[in-house]
Amino acid sequence: MTEPLLRIRGVRKEYGSRLVLRSIDLDVAEHQVVCLIGGSGSGKSTLLRCVDLLETVDDGTIHLGTGELTDPRLDANLARRRIGIVFQAYNLFPHLSVLDNITLAPRRVHGVSRKQAEQSARELLDRFGLADKAQEHPDRLSGGQQQRAAIARALATEPELLLFDEITSALDPELVGEVLDVVTDLKQRGLTILMATHEMGFARHVADQVCFLEDGVIVEQGTAEQVLTDPRQPATRRFLSRVLDHA
Ligand SMILES: Nc1ncnc2c1ncn2[C@@H]1O[C@H](COP(=O)(O)OP(=O)(O)OP(=O)(O)O)[C@@H](O)[C@H]1O
Ligand SMILES: [Mg+2]
Repeated sequence: MTEPLLRIRGVRKEYGSRLVLRSIDLDVAEHQVVCLIGGSGSGKSTLLRCVDLLETVDDGTIHLGTGELTDPRLDANLARRRIGIVFQAYNLFPHLSVLDNITLAPRRVHGVSRKQAEQSARELLDRFGLADKAQEHPDRLSGGQQQRAAIARALATEPELLLFDEITSALDPELVGEVLDVVTDLKQRGLTILMATHEMGFARHVADQVCFLEDGVIVEQGTAEQVLTDPRQPATRRFLSRVLDHA
C-alpha cells in the first residue's frame, strides 16, 4: 500500500481547558475525497484548521507527503503553500476583482508572472463557468459564483491538498448544486480533498471515505456507503437520523 498523502496521528487540541480534538487518526490517500461529518462543535473546523496550520496542535503529528507539518521548526507560511483552503463564506478580497483575487497568491507568493497567472486564472474561471466575471468585484457575484471563484483561487497555486470547510452551508439551497458540481469535477481530475460537509447526499456520491466526529473523537470512519447507509455506531445512527429528518 502506498503512503497516504495526508497522515494525521494522535492529534489533540485544547482551547483553554476544553478538549476539542482527542487523539485523531486519519489518512487521506492521494486522489481521494474524505468527508468529515458531525454535529456543530464536534471539531471538524478545528481539525481542518490544524491541517492548514492556522492552529497548533497540542499533541500528535500531521504529515503531508514526506514532510511533517507539525514539526515546530517548520516555516508555516511555506508549508501552507502546499495546501488550498476554502471556508464557508467571505473567502474573496472584496476590494479586488475576481481575476486579481485569483492571481494574487501565484504572483506575490509563488513568483509567477502576471501574464502567466492571468492566463491560468482565466482557464480556471472558464472551467467554472465564470469567464465573464473576471473583472467583477465579488459583491457583484451570487453566493454560488463567489464560492466557485474561491475554489478557483485555492486551485491557482496548484496545491497538493484541498481543505473545504462547509463551503455550501452559507448558500441558498438552489446554489448548492453548482458548487458541489465543481467539487465533483475536482475529484474526477484527481485532486485530493478533505472536507467538512453537511451534504450527506453529496458525501454518499463523491466521498471515498466518510468520518463521523462527535466531541472531538472520530467515532466511525469507513467508505461513504458503509458509514452513511449502514452505520455501525449508535452515535452515527443518531446523528444521521437527526440530519436526514431535517433534510
Ligand atoms: N478559537 C476558539 N477558542 C475557543 N474554543 C473554540 C475556538 N474554536 C472552536 N472552539 C470550540 O471548539 C469546539 C469545536 O469547534 P469546531 O468549530 O471545530 O466545530 P465544528 O465541528 O466545525 O462545528 P460546526 O458544524 O458548527 O462548524 C467547539 O466547542 C467550539 O466552541
Ligand atoms: Mg465548522
